[in-house]
Amino acid sequence: MQPLIRVESLRKHYRDGRVLGSGHIVSAALNEVSFSIAPGSTLALVGESGSGKSTLALCLACLERPTSGRIWFGGRNIAALDEKQLRAVRPQIQLVFQDPASSLNPRLTALEIITEPLLLQQSWNRRETQERGFALLERVGLSPEMASRRAGEVSGGQRQRLAIARALSLEPKLLILDEALSALDCSVQAQIANLLLELQSSFALTYFFITHDLAMAAHLAEEIAVINRGRIVEQGIPEKLLGSPEHEATRCLVAAMPQSIVTSHTPGAC
Ligand SMILES: Nc1ncnc2c1ncn2[C@@H]1O[C@H](COP(=O)(O)OP(=O)(O)O)[C@@H](O)[C@H]1O
Ligand SMILES: [Mg+2]
Repeated sequence: MQPLIRVESLRKHYRDGRVLGSGHIVSAALNEVSFSIAPGSTLALVGESGSGKSTLALCLACLERPTSGRIWFGGRNIAALDEKQLRAVRPQIQLVFQDPASSLNPRLTALEIITEPLLLQQSWNRRETQERGFALLERVGLSPEMASRRAGEVSGGQRQRLAIARALSLEPKLLILDEALSALDCSVQAQIANLLLELQSSFALTYFFITHDLAMAAHLAEEIAVINRGRIVEQGIPEKLLGSPEHEATRCLVAAMPQSIVTSHTPGAC
């Protein structure tokens, strides 16, 4: 089967603030990153803080331009498209961040948050937009009474449900979840993880699930890639990665997990 997205030799270099000799110091946030994700499946990306996970998320969502390499999506290398061409691609690849408190406008109502991307597209009239908004609210497990509540007034879990509904409003093919569960309490994490699984089977969604939580990665993903200092150092099915990790970075992540989870592959000790 053709992958939904295929990343080839991706590099992203940042000029950091310091200057050495005649030029700026350049740091490599991503180095020769290659992988692909099959349609309808989940690839988890696991790595410690600063390893390049968010940089990769931003490159895939076409919000940062890679320094070099290719991102194949829908038969095109989207890393080479210009701004105008990217406008047609961006709705198909949506990103959910860790902290919806800062990524969602707290003054907007729940319904406004969900329907804003639809209004910007201008493809639906007011009634259709409202209907889609209420349908999405229900899909993410929120009651219709939530529609008029302001984002700043709802719980962290409810806000993350709103962020997911907003991300789904334009019917994307790929959802990138960048530490989307990390700020939530353990029981809320489990509920949203289950919601993600339900939505994936209903809408045949493809997920790129970014986390530093190997147990959650094993619960949600068919495959896990481990990133270390901007490089994918190991990739495989959860059983293989947890059972016989090969790279030092993977062994460190496994060693940080409670033993019961390593053997059962289920989250629950966050
Ligand atoms: N806009 C930026 N400018 C300069 N350096 C950056 C920028 N964004 C990220 N970096 C650097 O790239 C590396 C990877 O960061 P990031 O992708 O945020 O890692 P992670 O999400 O795994 O914590 C870090 O060393 C970080 O300091
Ligand atoms: Mg990050």
